[in-house]
Amino acid sequence: MKSLIIAAILLLIPGCNSGKSIKKTADMVFERAVAQFTALDARLSPEQMPITFDNGQVKDGKLNDWTSGFFPGSLWLVYEYTGNPDILEMAKRQTAKLDGIIEMHTHHDIGFQVNSSFGNGYRLTGNPAYLEMMKAGAEKLAGRFSPVVGCTRSWNPGKRWNFPVIIDNMMNLEILAEVSHLTGEEKYMDIARSHANTTLKNHFRPDASTWHVVAYDEETGAVEKKQTSQGFSDESTWSRGESWALYGFTMMYRETKDPAYLEQARKVAEFIIPMLPKDGVPEWDFNAPGTKHAFDMNAVGAPKASKFKWRPGDPVLRDSSAGAIMASAFVELSTFTPGKDGKRYLKCAERILRTLASPEYLAAEGENGGFLLKHGVTNLHSWSGVDIPLTYADYYFLEALLRYLRVAE
Ligand code: GLY
Repeated sequence: MKSLIIAAILLLIPGCNSGKSIKKTADMVFERAVAQFTALDARLSPEQMPITFDNGQVKDGKLNDWTSGFFPGSLWLVYEYTGNPDILEMAKRQTAKLDGIIEMHTHHDIGFQVNSSFGNGYRLTGNPAYLEMMKAGAEKLAGRFSPVVGCTRSWNPGKRWNFPVIIDNMMNLEILAEVSHLTGEEKYMDIARSHANTTLKNHFRPDASTWHVVAYDEETGAVEKKQTSQGFSDESTWSRGESWALYGFTMMYRETKDPAYLEQARKVAEFIIPMLPKDGVPEWDFNAPGTKHAFDMNAVGAPKASKFKWRPGDPVLRDSSAGAIMASAFVELSTFTPGKDGKRYLKCAERILRTLASPEYLAAEGENGGFLLKHGVTNLHSWSGVDIPLTYADYYFLEALLRYLRVAE
């Protein structure tokens, strides 16, 4: 009787419902995804992709937005798990909307956009037209590479930075590596390695935490500034940025088998794990006021014009997207790490996934504007997108579940 009561209590605590297999959790989540995404699909125009749901309104982005590949990508992942022919039709239709994005493209996120949509489509169907889009995406991204800096340029020159590279950009290397493997074109892999090596040298502090933005001098390749755009302050660690680093270096190890990338991914993992709250879903910035390692509100480099005001006692917002990205990366990292550490990484992923699949984070059917996860943060400083669903949170959550099932069950 006593053990039954303890089990019942554990089931009610997010992250502790370990009696239930992840397979059952995945069945429930993917069934929810079919219902939610069918509703989302029904209301999209041919020029739009969904980003979030805020103040009772679904917010759609243009096809050139960095997030535009995640809805088609999520549909491919749902099709992969369920085999549902209606979802396959939706995935093809939503992917086809991106046929023109190479021509309209002006930033580094062509990798995110093309890989999650056409990349998954190619992996699951072998459609040669999807491969052509991947090749075109890699070529477009390669056009942003500077051999002097050793990186692809993230954002175009602006008021604050001339040649900014953001840690997020590690994610865009995946399309370069994939296309290099698929076509034998070494140029793309050389660019991906150069970008990863330069990032390894300049983006990390000694404890493997990251600066969000490193700005370079385009003429000499010298580092000009190390700052933040979306984190709490220049010296804080924005949790989604850290999760891009974890995922990006794990992915680069998968693609190259260069041990330096695995070593870096593991250092990032060891930085992250003690920072996580009990339920595993990170706060939006590991040093945000109110967190275990909080900086004060006047920390050096905290954006002065920030709309973010926090008073003691206020809740600290979580970022479910950072949690989902980390979970997916931790599962993959566990496959490259034998023994106790690999088990620890997998356990960490499981803890995050169970919390994200709990009613605190997972939307009930018909709610949340058709998205799956609640409680994401886009940019707390500009107060754009705070405590909201995010299309990329859904994508990496589904990917993490699929990866977990492949590895652990
Ligand atoms: N790459 C943009 C973001 O993570 O918000």
